[in-house]
Amino acid sequence: MSFLKAFVRLLIAASFSLATAQNGSYPSNTVQIVKGVDLQLPPTAFGGGIEGAAVNAQGDVFAVDYRAAGAGPNKAFGFFSETEGGTESVLNLAANPIFNASTEGVANPPLINGARFLKDGRILIADANNSRVLSVKDARSSTFCTDAAMLQPNDLALSVNIPEMIYLSGQNFTETTIAGQHGALWTCAGSTAMQFPPALLAQADVHRTNGIETSPCGRHLYLSSATNVAGNVTANRIYRFNIHTPTGILISQTPSVFYEFTGADAAIDIDGMRADVRGNLYVTRNGDGKIVKLSPEGQLLMTINLPGMGGPSNLEFGGAEGKTLFAVGSCKANATIGCAAKFEGETVGKAFRLLQ
Ligand SMILES: *[C@@H]1O[C@H](CO)[C@@H](O)[C@H](O)[C@H]1NC(C)=O
Ligand SMILES: *[C@@H]1O[C@H](CO)[C@@H](O)[C@H](O)[C@H]1NC(C)=O
Ligand SMILES: *[C@@H]1O[C@H](CO)[C@@H](O)[C@H](O)[C@H]1NC(C)=O
Ligand SMILES: *[C@@H]1O[C@H](CO)[C@@H](O)[C@H](O)[C@H]1NC(C)=O
Ligand SMILES: *[C@@H]1O[C@H](CO)[C@@H](O)[C@H](O)[C@H]1NC(C)=O
Ligand SMILES: *[C@@H]1O[C@H](CO)[C@@H](O)[C@H](O)[C@H]1NC(C)=O
Repeated sequence: MSFLKAFVRLLIAASFSLATAQNGSYPSNTVQIVKGVDLQLPPTAFGGGIEGAAVNAQGDVFAVDYRAAGAGPNKAFGFFSETEGGTESVLNLAANPIFNASTEGVANPPLINGARFLKDGRILIADANNSRVLSVKDARSSTFCTDAAMLQPNDLALSVNIPEMIYLSGQNFTETTIAGQHGALWTCAGSTAMQFPPALLAQADVHRTNGIETSPCGRHLYLSSATNVAGNVTANRIYRFNIHTPTGILISQTPSVFYEFTGADAAIDIDGMRADVRGNLYVTRNGDGKIVKLSPEGQLLMTINLPGMGGPSNLEFGGAEGKTLFAVGSCKANATIGCAAKFEGETVGKAFRLLQ
């Protein structure tokens, strides 16, 4: 999930006023700069809360905040591009959306966000407003896991080795965030929800958690953290956690910093994160209209600029071969409308490969 619209505007302003390029710890001449292609989604298809990019086994890509069938914000999940036909059927109401979140029998109006397809065709979708993850099959949902103490969940990642095991991020966007309190990390082993010790997050200075992804070998979990101080975003980092591979459980130890955005980039929120099969990590820079590609060693390799997108909020590899990187986010011209873009990569996405 992104954050308050006012903050987005503030961040965009901040990123333009500080034009000095930051090198991180790497020479800028090794960073490839490329450009994505706008998909020109019909403006009535998705709202500005477009998020939860997910791929199925065919390489079709989906997102939340489908609006064309009349659903309210973050209530419907549909495809935004198909492997056969691209965006041509997006507004075909016989085909889209493929899921509407029911407002009946839940404490709060659903706010669906992160999503992932499982190999058996089920879709797991986080409901950030009801502390639960839904399991969707044939447009009907059941609760996959829930715990009243869950902060959101926001986005989710699948274990590479263990079926029915997922990891969840979640944040509480306050003016000043407190480490270990305004960001959380949960694991669901099937319906059993377990919280990663907040004290360890506090020790590592983990604040608002958002992007979440497993490495293709299944040994690591990447989790983003953003810090707010008096209404300003002051730090954006990616942490790496160790996974006990035989069980998929996160090891109770302080995570290490995998990458830290510095200078003006520190104020730009990390949102969605996805890995390719080689372990490169692709990270959306929400508010700055770009994605960065980091090597498994945490080297900045590439910047993918996304013209037309103010977000981007999330991303996923799809297409027939699983090598096309799709991004979704609010449009730059009008943040109430959902935009999407693509970039032809050279490596297959981890999520796509796991579904084959
Ligand atoms: C970036 O690298 C260039 C060339 O090495 C250097 O001149 C510049 O000071 C660096 N900028 C920052 C912000 O580190
Ligand atoms: C979602 O809701 C819309 C509007 O009520 C309806 O047209 C569509 O058939 C529903 N789709 C599914 C998959 O439930
Ligand atoms: C989340 O739930 C609260 C409490 O019911 C409600 O006021 C709010 O509108 C909900 N948020 C969304 C985005 O639906
Ligand atoms: C978010 O943090 C504020 C300030 O600490 C607190 O009052 C509020 O209850 C928190 N919300 C949730 C959902 O935890
Ligand atoms: C927050 O940002 C505003 C606007 O850039 C600035 O005036 C203010 O000093 C900052 N506050 C802190 C605590 O850094
Ligand atoms: C943005 O899009 C919305 C929804 O289509 C529309 O109502 C609004 O007028 C647009 N705003 C601007 C500034 O174009």
